[in-house]
Amino acid sequence: MAAATSPTSTRSSTHPATVRPVSDLPSEKTGETKLPLKKIPGDYGLPFFGAIKDRLDYFYNQVIALLDAKSFPVLFDVSKVEKKDLFTGTYMPSTKLTGGYRILSYLDPSEPKHAKIKQLLFFLLKSIKDRVFPEFEACYTELFATVEKEVAAKGKSNFSTLNEQAAFNFLGRAYFGSNPPDTKLGTDGPSSIAKWVLFNLAPVLSLGLPKYIEDLLLHTFPLPAFLVKRDYNKLYDFIYQSSGFVQDEAEKLGLSREEACHNLLFATCFNTYGGVKILFPSILKYIGQAGEELHTKLALEIRSAIKSNGGKLSMAALEQMPLNEICVKKGEMLFGFQPIATKDRKVFERAEEFVPDRFVGADGEKLLKYVVWSNGPETETPSVANKQCAGKEFVVLIARLLVVQLFKRYDTFEIDVGTSPLGAAITIKSFKRASS
Ligand code: HEM
Repeated sequence: MAAATSPTSTRSSTHPATVRPVSDLPSEKTGETKLPLKKIPGDYGLPFFGAIKDRLDYFYNQVIALLDAKSFPVLFDVSKVEKKDLFTGTYMPSTKLTGGYRILSYLDPSEPKHAKIKQLLFFLLKSIKDRVFPEFEACYTELFATVEKEVAAKGKSNFSTLNEQAAFNFLGRAYFGSNPPDTKLGTDGPSSIAKWVLFNLAPVLSLGLPKYIEDLLLHTFPLPAFLVKRDYNKLYDFIYQSSGFVQDEAEKLGLSREEACHNLLFATCFNTYGGVKILFPSILKYIGQAGEELHTKLALEIRSAIKSNGGKLSMAALEQMPLNEICVKKGEMLFGFQPIATKDRKVFERAEEFVPDRFVGADGEKLLKYVVWSNGPETETPSVANKQCAGKEFVVLIARLLVVQLFKRYDTFEIDVGTSPLGAAITIKSFKRASS
């Protein structure tokens, strides 16, 4: 997950980046043609008050700089832009919130630690591959069983809330082989993360309070880190106790066990949990709203792929589910990531709509390079040399697993969609259990 940068989106929609000085650009060195330098129009306004006015415009009066699909990718070129201390937007949260360390997401690839820590996360994601499928199935089977009980008892069930505990349990079990409720952390993970994330994101978060109160409370002074220390330490202890195998690898890479754990905490609780907390309700939203016809197609595709793989869900079975993959990819586009650049009408027909088969076939696949939710095109791979999301493949995998679990279990379902400061609030109202 990347952080909030616009009032309409809680994800990295503006992708802040510092443009390197012109003298640093490769074009200088290679002698390529340089465009004439022009003064950027506008000014800073009045000292002090001008900055406050800009902030109010940014949050509440909707002054947003737009980028189209063509110009946007320049932000991925690490030779032209520096992405240092910018992950959360235009400011850097206090390192007191992250154990005193500058975490990977804030490091530019030119800093030697960037490659080491990213390598460590690739190691983590590679070593857990046998746990992902069974742990996902276990945690989300439990979630849907609860949904069914709640719908039977109250006529509705809040998926977004249940998803928080299910996602956190899944991550504890898949990443670290440890079920949070069986440890000292218990079921406190999601609420502790919520508080800690609020302290990280406060300057760019809009909670919908009256604007002058919100601006004074959240956007004017940093919230003091000590107020969230207890929560952070509980999460840290959980990660520290359960991630010995990653810490061993960290030492081999020349990182301390402590720095590794603070980074693992951030990757688990901010990047992954934070992402899934928003992504999964959004998937339910788009698929739920698409209606029964799409549900029937997905159910058929998913169940027959599993059947032809001997009744087992595996990577091979997933590969036989093109519509599921496409839905997820399309979902990513609409979830509010870079919402403007990824809905460029010059690139996408019916850009604002959810078109389940948009990326199907040779022509459809050509559009994948414009899907840039991961801070890079869908057709490229994260590496230690770039700033593309380390969890790119993992996110798509688990998003597809969610759709599989849904349609293994149900023929169709109905939802209500509400709003919340982070993503959609999804209530499941009814479902039809699988008939075949
Ligand atoms: C829905 C889920 C996710 C979304 C939308 C997402 C999105 C992003 C984006 C946009 C960035 C680039 C931020 C920037 O520099 O401007 C990023 C970076 C990153 N993401 Fe993700 N992410 C998700 C899940 C994950 C997961 C599962 C991991 C697991 C390890 C992860 C790890 C990272 C890391 C480590 C970075 C920094 C990469 C670097 O510094 O080179 N993310 N993510």
